[in-house]
Amino acid sequence: MPILLQIDSSADASTSRTRALTAAVAAAWRGRGVDYEVVVRDLHADQLPHLRTPAQHWPRRLREGASIPDDLEELQRSVLDELLSADAVVIGAPMYNYSMPSTLKAWVDLIHVPGVTASFDEPSQPLAGRPAVIATARGAAYDPGTRTEGWDHVVPPLQLVLGEGLGMTVHVVATSRTLAERVPDLGARRAAEELEAALAEARRLGSTI
Ligand SMILES: Cc1cc2nc3c(=O)[nH]c(=O)nc-3n(C[C@H](O)[C@H](O)[C@H](O)COP(=O)(O)O)c2cc1C
Repeated sequence: MPILLQIDSSADASTSRTRALTAAVAAAWRGRGVDYEVVVRDLHADQLPHLRTPAQHWPRRLREGASIPDDLEELQRSVLDELLSADAVVIGAPMYNYSMPSTLKAWVDLIHVPGVTASFDEPSQPLAGRPAVIATARGAAYDPGTRTEGWDHVVPPLQLVLGEGLGMTVHVVATSRTLAERVPDLGARRAAEELEAALAEARRLGSTI
């Protein structure tokens, strides 16, 4: 049965745009048939620990003698197995201080393992070609040609890790100006239009990836 792994990381449980986008992808995925399953991991509600040792970045054979405690090994194995079992992934990635939430970064640090999920001394990309949707939301605007173009440090590292590192086929759904109600200059109407367009794209991806 095809499995979508839905990952959320917004600290906002009620009005989150990224949660709305990941939910739209998941609903469209489920709509493809009764056997289309969604596994949810909420990184804000159930926070993963940060790395305790750099050895966690490597498989045992590349750890150069370092060891890691059994509980950490088990936790990382279960997070990796969950990802490796998924046919597709959607990741809610809100912008926090121009970067991704630390809860999401903790997940990235656990799943990007050279020699396991990414190639290192030998080719290893078990997730190559599988789709990954990055669903991002930011309070302000980072449009091309503006002063803030290039200030988004959420999407590029995720594209690098998932696309370059893991070889996945990456799609990006973005909505901006989400703080328009508090900052009228951002334009409430444009913000609403961007959200509608992003939701439509999320539904499209959920039914086609
Ligand atoms: C801790 C925190 C930091 C934020 N930093 C930024 C920022 O650097 N730039 C920005 O445009 N918006 C920033 N925002 C606004 C969020 O990106 C915006 O509210 C977005 O919609 C959050 O995603 P969500 O709706 O899924 O929760 C920040 C919000 C929070 C809570």
